[in-house]
Order: sequence, then C-alpha cells, then structure tokens
Amino acid sequence: MGDVDGAFGLWAAANPSTRHLLAGVEAADSWGTDGHKWLNVPYDSGYSFCADPVAHRAAMAYSVAYVTGHGEGPVRAPSDYILESSRRARGFVTWVALRLLGRTGVGDLVERCCRLARRFAGRMAAIEGVSVGNDVVLNQVLVRFGEDDGATDAVAAAAQESGECWMGSTTWRGKRYMRVSVANWSTSEDDIDRTSAVVEAAWRSLR
Ligand SMILES: Cc1ncc(COP(=O)(O)O)c(C=O)c1O
Repeated sequence: MGDVDGAFGLWAAANPSTRHLLAGVEAADSWGTDGHKWLNVPYDSGYSFCADPVAHRAAMAYSVAYVTGHGEGPVRAPSDYILESSRRARGFVTWVALRLLGRTGVGDLVERCCRLARRFAGRMAAIEGVSVGNDVVLNQVLVRFGEDDGATDAVAAAAQESGECWMGSTTWRGKRYMRVSVANWSTSEDDIDRTSAVVEAAWRSLR
C-alpha cells in the first residue's frame, strides 16, 4: 500500500482528539517516525516499522565469516533488522520517555502542541496579506505572505535570523509556504505570541 512518513503524524495516535487522522495507516507497508521530534528525545532517534519481516531482514541482514552473532536460527537477532551492527543504546532514551510520559503524557503533549499551532495560525490569519494554506488539524501550519513566493521565503528567513524561532519552508500545491511545526514540550503561549510578533514585523517591514 505504500510507506508512511509519520515523523510527526504517527504520534497523533496517542491523542484521542487526533487519533482519527490515522485511519487506514495500518494498511501501510512501513511506517517511519522520529523520537527527536514530538517525543522530545535527543537527535538520531528515528524508528522504522516494516510490516513484512522477511523483506525487512532481506534488506538489512548481512553475513560474513569474521562477524559472528547474526541470527541464523529461529531466534531473532536484532542486528539483522538495522543498518549498523554496533551502535550505542539509542533505544534507552525512547524507553525512558515512553515509560515516564505514558500514552496519556504523549497524548497531552500532542494536544498541547496542536492547540498552540492553532493559536499561531489564528494570529497569522488575522494579519492583512497573510494566509494559512492548510487546515490546522495537527501541529503543522503553512503560512504564505502575499502572492509572491519570494516574500514568503524572505519572511521565513528573517524570522530565523531573529533568533526567536525556527521554521522551515516548503512548496505545496505549487506555492511557497513558511512551514511551522510546533513540537517542543516547553513551548508556551507566550512563545507563540513572541514568534507571531517577529513574523508579523518581518512581513510589515517587507511590504
Ligand atoms: C514530516 C517529516 N519527515 C521527515 C523529516 C526528516 O527528519 P530527520 O531530519 O529527523 O530525518 C522531517 C523533518 O522535519 C519531517 O518534518
């Protein structure tokens, strides 16, 4: 059926009010997601889930005479399902975060970020010449400034240069947008309002 980039989206399943957004995801061949985004654990905590264990193993496992310990028998060898044989215990922080937060804690985090994303979208939509390009159903907000792609890129760059916030850019349906992802556990309403003010000032100085 295809592969799901659930870097943010898969975490929506932990929150009762966003879980419906994942309808049908179980039919995918694989999912990818990150812990270093919404789970707020350190970088290089990425996870992939493959529905077909035979294909998964065939893509990853290797066998050479001078490296032992790979699974040749009935017992699953974890190293047959990843790219590196030797690695630090990356999984530990993920385990700690999930044990600490539990499903409810992760769900609350998701809910809070979505609420802040809606707040940001509301602030943006109230500014003349600024439009929000997506339905803000999760933590993602696409913002366009005027009708000129260059203006949108310039506002995103100015916002980044301010040091107050960081957001990316994207092209969606042929148009440039500033792409905002609200994902940090410590982001507050005040942060959203400060960010909105910086973005608004950048747009006004460009007009
Ligand atoms: C939806 C989505 N997929 C994939 C990525 C890439 O993530 P990473 O750089 O952690 O591999 C990003 C990064 O922002 C993302 O937003």
